[in-house]
Amino acid sequence: MELKNATHINGTISVPGDKSISHRAVMFGAISDGITEITGFLEGADCLSTISCFRKMGISIEQEKERVIVHGKGLHGLMRPDGMLDVGNSGTTARLLSGILAGQPFSATLTGDASIQKRPMKRILAPLASMGASVCSIKENGCAPLQFQPARLRGTACLSPVASAQVKSCILLAGLYADGKTSVTEPARSRNHTELMLSAFGATIECDGTTVSILPEPRLTGRKINVPGDISSAAYFLAAGLLLPGSEILIPNTGVNPTRDGFLKAVCAMGGRVQRQNARIVSGEPVCDLLVTASRLHGIEIGGDQIPALIDEIPMLAVLGAFAEGVTTIRDAAELKVKESDRIAAITDNLRRMGAVVTPTEDGMAIEGNPDGLHPAKFDSYGDHRIAMAFSIAALPLHAPSKMQNAACVNISYPTFYHDLNRLIHS
Ligand code: S3P
Repeated sequence: MELKNATHINGTISVPGDKSISHRAVMFGAISDGITEITGFLEGADCLSTISCFRKMGISIEQEKERVIVHGKGLHGLMRPDGMLDVGNSGTTARLLSGILAGQPFSATLTGDASIQKRPMKRILAPLASMGASVCSIKENGCAPLQFQPARLRGTACLSPVASAQVKSCILLAGLYADGKTSVTEPARSRNHTELMLSAFGATIECDGTTVSILPEPRLTGRKINVPGDISSAAYFLAAGLLLPGSEILIPNTGVNPTRDGFLKAVCAMGGRVQRQNARIVSGEPVCDLLVTASRLHGIEIGGDQIPALIDEIPMLAVLGAFAEGVTTIRDAAELKVKESDRIAAITDNLRRMGAVVTPTEDGMAIEGNPDGLHPAKFDSYGDHRIAMAFSIAALPLHAPSKMQNAACVNISYPTFYHDLNRLIHS
């Protein structure tokens, strides 16, 4: 695909619904009693995989664009699927669904695409096994396909080696079916959408520092969920607005949960002008309108507890680093290697293709800002939606068009990305 360059970007962009929240609304609706009505649902391939897995387990789900009605059957209402549950490219579906499957009285097999079959599942297999679950990696390589057999689950205190909301949520969902309290402690706080939404459906959840506990066998009741715009999708337009001189972009209705807003904090620390307007709470989640004005950026260092709150935005942040003044250093982000692609490798390769100077490390990278040394390039998405979108934004300030191989993968989280971008840019 040809990637246009542009002089500036202006206007208002309502980005599609939050991916993490859309998955959870369908899943929690399915195991609740009664109807869950979702508006603002993300109609991306990942969330459609979640819908298709729950339909296979007998849940009736009506979906028309951003409106979804889930006819929940309660905690014990799922049925044995006919054939494998295919999560496609979706790590969130794979890991959260695994927590639910561990507690079911039927056997099931979960699989996904080539990328999913390489992503680490030991991080959920070990805690699930400690709870008494019968689940194994069929190829014995710690990855999907995973085979689940019925088992009695014990309430257990689990320690997660990684700050991962997918691992935490998997354990909490299995805890719904255990015989006592289940808790999970993580090294740093990960996104808390599960805690917020599952409590709203009726679960008893306690949070104490980086430990979250859940009591079993709650009565979950269907409800209305209005999904806010995805801050991870907003990040691309926000970055474009900062990078192109003379730009101003309004991104209304964006989720700004403090466990997810690390990118906003990081770009402000780089000198970016981003205003949060009309702060409010929608369906239990903090939301606001973001007003972005073109800014001169300088490099920063990020690491430690900051990382979980911006893990999905690191490709975009690395690109901003290449256009900023000075060095941008990213540490403590080894998780990047086990995302939809090895993002340390994918970012390094694509930054170098455009002439940036980057030093990859085991847990991050250092990028030397040098906007004048950057040039149009042929980028490769590595089949990873976030790499495709971040480097499509990287192409905007360059002096001529660039190219992207495998651009279609944006359909995972933002099917209308190129359409929306082309509507707002001026060349
Ligand atoms: C997600 C959690 C994060 C994130 C992913 C979505 C979620 O993954 O990268 O895109 O919805 O819980 P980890 O929990 O593995 O860090």
